[in-house]
Amino acid sequence: MVRIPLALALTCGLAVAGTAFAGGHAGNPAVSARKAHMQLYSFNLGILGAMAKGETEYNADAAAAAASNLAAVASLNQSAYWVPGTSSDDLPGESRAKPEIWQAGSTAAEIGMSFAEAAAALAAVAGDGKDAMAGAMGAVGKGCGDCHKAYRAPRN
Ligand code: HEC
Repeated sequence: MVRIPLALALTCGLAVAGTAFAGGHAGNPAVSARKAHMQLYSFNLGILGAMAKGETEYNADAAAAAASNLAAVASLNQSAYWVPGTSSDDLPGESRAKPEIWQAGSTAAEIGMSFAEAAAALAAVAGDGKDAMAGAMGAVGKGCGDCHKAYRAPRN
């Protein structure tokens, strides 16, 4: 069981009320920021996935760096870019964040919290060998999948 620091626990609230940005021609900055956040997840998880599948050779330093980046991104305070008024209903064609994220009963924040825990657990062992790394990756991948299944709208 991984203990998550209090600061991290406090920053995990996704449904924090905030100022909704007005959508401009350049796109909504909050949506752009969370897409950038997700791209960093994807990039770092891709490095680990390639090693796990044997497409690239396992390298302890590279694995530790990618996993620690993943955990660091997961620990960012995301409240300024998960703001109401930026859902897939509000900004069709731009946002794929389902309105349910901001509705009563949303579990998005919880999923985000357990994802951050899984990422921290992976970062703790990713440099300890390929098997240790691969063993801790399942929970991380599940976190991505669980949240997307519930809260990411299909491409349009
Ligand atoms: C707590 C929920 C949550 C978690 C955890 C999560 N995602 Fe996402 N992800 C989303 C949502 C919501 C969107 C749609 C965001 C939008 O369009 O505004 C998204 C979008 C994406 C995108 C598309 C980005 C773009 O440029 O349009 C990628 C890629 C992605 N996620 C990868 C990942 C990966 C890889 C992980 C795990 C390592 C992950 N996500 C974890 C909720 C989550």
